[in-house]
Amino acid sequence: MTSKGNTECFVYITLPGEAESVTAGRFELTKDRRGNPLGRFVYGKSYLARGNTVAIDPIELKLSSDTYETTRLNGVFGALRDSGPDYWGRRVIEKHAGVPQLGELDYLLNSADDRAGALGFGLNQTPPAPRRKFNKTLELAKLQEIAEALMREEDVKTEEAAQVQDLMLIGTSMGGARPKAVVEDNEGLWVAKFNRLDDRWNNTRVEHAMLELARTCGISVATSRVETIAGKDVLLVKRFDREKTGKGYTKARMISGLTLLRAEEAPETRDRWSYVLISEELRRVVAEPKKDAPELFRRMVFNALISNIDDHPRNHALIAKERDWRLSPAYDLTPSPMVAQDRRDLAMEIGDQGRYANAKNLLSQYTRFLLEEEEAKAIVSTMTEKVRATWYDVARAQGITEKDAETIRSAFVYEGFSY
Ligand SMILES: Nc1ncnc2c1ncn2[C@@H]1O[C@H](COP(=O)(O)OP(=O)(O)OP(=O)(O)O)[C@@H](O)[C@H]1O
Ligand SMILES: [Mg+2]
Repeated sequence: MTSKGNTECFVYITLPGEAESVTAGRFELTKDRRGNPLGRFVYGKSYLARGNTVAIDPIELKLSSDTYETTRLNGVFGALRDSGPDYWGRRVIEKHAGVPQLGELDYLLNSADDRAGALGFGLNQTPPAPRRKFNKTLELAKLQEIAEALMREEDVKTEEAAQVQDLMLIGTSMGGARPKAVVEDNEGLWVAKFNRLDDRWNNTRVEHAMLELARTCGISVATSRVETIAGKDVLLVKRFDREKTGKGYTKARMISGLTLLRAEEAPETRDRWSYVLISEELRRVVAEPKKDAPELFRRMVFNALISNIDDHPRNHALIAKERDWRLSPAYDLTPSPMVAQDRRDLAMEIGDQGRYANAKNLLSQYTRFLLEEEEAKAIVSTMTEKVRATWYDVARAQGITEKDAETIRSAFVYEGFSY
């Protein structure tokens, strides 16, 4: 474990088509005159001098010899923050370090080398060799056990070497709040998401069913499957930022919606959380705006139809496998059953009536998603019918029990949607 209190590190990147990383630049995290976190990033001269370089982030950290500064997100540039752990991974790292609340840089330096996107972090000017060994899907039973111990707040004794190994085994670097690990099989790498002990329904199967349902609604989604380990279901979502090749894994760059919006993370500061703004920003960056902007519109409509109110900006991402950026496949789709029938709000702004998950509101800004009025209307009406008519059968076909299906029923096409 890297010691606490580091104030600078090197940022590595795996260039398109490569399986090994190179040093892209240096990141420093200090404080401004008022004592607030201030981040600085500068690309290395030799990185800029290479012929085939790419920007870490096409918005905030364009390729240049400038020194970039930020005070947002505790001084950690969005693209770097996107490569770091969230609630779950931070918790694992804290347990492992035996210290609560590490510095932002410590989380980046201490997370395992299987983080989302193409970046890496370290104290050496030269990047470490790429990781060759990953947890296997065969080890899911063990991983599930460790995850459950962590969920139960059990004091995992870090002084015992074996358990320290265990903690690192679970992987710490993927974002998100739910317990998860990264696993490998013959096809490649997967994010394994475990059910929580306090889940009110079988989240694993429900999330898998929502990805299937979204696919039938014409949305491009991450590949997923469910594995049952010792009677418990685990969701495996294929990593869309990794590709297995003869020389190892290639890595796609990745930035979240939060970075694209240059927004803050806390819901209290959500004034920039907006589908409309994401659409405008992505139109500037992606290679095929005519494809991605309408795709974002479809995801927004889908989220409204299944009451996915956890659709915060980090549940959307752009990726770049080669030089060009595009919207990533959809992931983390979860319905929220609710009593309210009149009005439901998504996490981000949808249109003229704010976050109101309602057909009229969804249609109020269609031009910003590069759609014609008729196209937008057709998407809303076709998808509404599709979700209404098929959600139950899709859910049951994915092994969701009748009881669970009834528990989540109120999430789908609620009354206020068509007011
Ligand atoms: N299939 C995938 N390939 C690559 N990266 C992924 C994939 N699925 C998720 N991620 C990354 O991992 C993060 C966490 O995943 P996910 O959103 O599914 O977890 P979660 O714990 O349910 O999140 P939340 O905190 O939003 O509930 C995402 O924000 C994204 O950066
Ligand atoms: Mg998420």
